[in-house]
Amino acid sequence: MADFDEKSITRAVIERLSESRDPRFKQLMTSLVTHLHDFIREVRLTEEEWIKGIQFLTEVGRKCTDKRQEFILLSDTLGASILVISLNHPAKNGSAESTVLGPYYWEGAPERPLGSNLAEGVKGDPTFYSGRVLDANGRAIPGATLDIWSGDGEGNYDMQLPDETEMRARGKIRTDSQGRYWFRSIRPSFYPVPIDGPVGSMLNEMGRHPYRPGHIHMIVSAPGYEAVTTHLFVSNSPYLDSDAVFGMKESLVVDFKRHEPGPAPDGERMSIPYFTAEYDFRLRRAAD
Ligand code: BEZ
Ligand code: FE
Repeated sequence: MADFDEKSITRAVIERLSESRDPRFKQLMTSLVTHLHDFIREVRLTEEEWIKGIQFLTEVGRKCTDKRQEFILLSDTLGASILVISLNHPAKNGSAESTVLGPYYWEGAPERPLGSNLAEGVKGDPTFYSGRVLDANGRAIPGATLDIWSGDGEGNYDMQLPDETEMRARGKIRTDSQGRYWFRSIRPSFYPVPIDGPVGSMLNEMGRHPYRPGHIHMIVSAPGYEAVTTHLFVSNSPYLDSDAVFGMKESLVVDFKRHEPGPAPDGERMSIPYFTAEYDFRLRRAAD
């Protein structure tokens, strides 16, 4: 028997994992304990700081509901989410780049015909989106699905609006026989991540702003291919260089071209200026 000291405590905790049956769990816990102890030693954590950390994590847990996931927001704002995504969906793997899912995905958006206006009655500049879904060799993928959602032109998602119970600016669009898609929505605006909880206080204490650059979300999928959870970013949006959740990828930035009033790509006569945005998504074959 021996008392634990600053160094031997780490070895002692790890040794108690010797009976753990799952080797991956054992590896994760060994590394977690090693890094946690190294962190405590490195910063010479005080008791006040330790309890402040515990209280912070408790508040993060308290803020979670079935509609709000403050832990994911914490992970997003500390860059952990995008690090996990980058490791599991590396750039240059033959597919469009992935980025964060975010808290505003609403499963079960209705499938809409090609060319639909997903943002009927939603505030914002009208935008006509189009492009193709292709495989890694540039061949069209017919029947691919784009599950699309965005906030409005003022940066609010339907879920955030007090009296909104219906889906808005959402829908699923399927590519035609040549892998093409087109639909209408609005040009999304930059907006803040939720700041009325402990993560908001953390950002404030860090001296950070809470904004994400303007973007539209989509999950692009097709049978036999790896689905991609991604965004298209508005090229001249503020905060492209300082996305609060580190989700911005240059390969996903799109030029939203402004057009004067007149005939739109769908033949409609627009009485106000409108925008067009084009992007081709590539999907990688799923591993067998
Ligand atoms: C979003 O893009 O909707 C989002 C992503 C991460 C945190 C908050 C919002
Ligand atoms: Fe978003």
